[in-house]
Amino acid sequence: MNVSRSTGWMAATAAALWLGLGQADEFTQEDLQRWNQEFMEVVKEGDRLFHGGFPSKNTVSCDQCHPNATNTHPETYPKFQKQLGEVVPMWRMINWCIENPLESEPLPADDPRMTALQAYIHWERRGAKLEPGKH
Ligand code: HEC
Repeated sequence: MNVSRSTGWMAATAAALWLGLGQADEFTQEDLQRWNQEFMEVVKEGDRLFHGGFPSKNTVSCDQCHPNATNTHPETYPKFQKQLGEVVPMWRMINWCIENPLESEPLPADDPRMTALQAYIHWERRGAKLEPGKH
């Protein structure tokens, strides 16, 4: 057999497996339930952090300025924010609030607390139409 053709086929198969093609139905109701439960646990942690649970140096909390994540407009990100002078994803703006109003250390983008805050904010605004870039 032609070697380069056979490795090409293997690479294509590997790519298809990696993408999960042909496996779309391979999860159960229990999987869905568990994934949803895991997600809601993270939302709950974000809710806690947002409402006074974030260990800010000056004891200021997110909900003092954004009750229940109102006015956080997650559906408008990424967008230009004048405080940062460029187009940013929402976590950069969360860090701006952590560093300025909360006078605390910014979080790494992949910090579980950053994920939780974003999960909570998005959950509160679920159903809002995506409007990236909007002011
Ligand atoms: C002292 C008030 C204050 C506190 C406390 C505060 N923020 Fe903010 N937040 C602001 C201001 C001011 C802006 C900028 C609003 C703008 O430019 O649209 C902002 C913007 C944001 C935005 C983007 C809003 C938008 O419409 O683009 C998010 C998301 C956000 N804050 C999340 C948080 C989170 C999470 C916390 C807690 C860790 C927090 N904020 C704490 C005042 C605050």
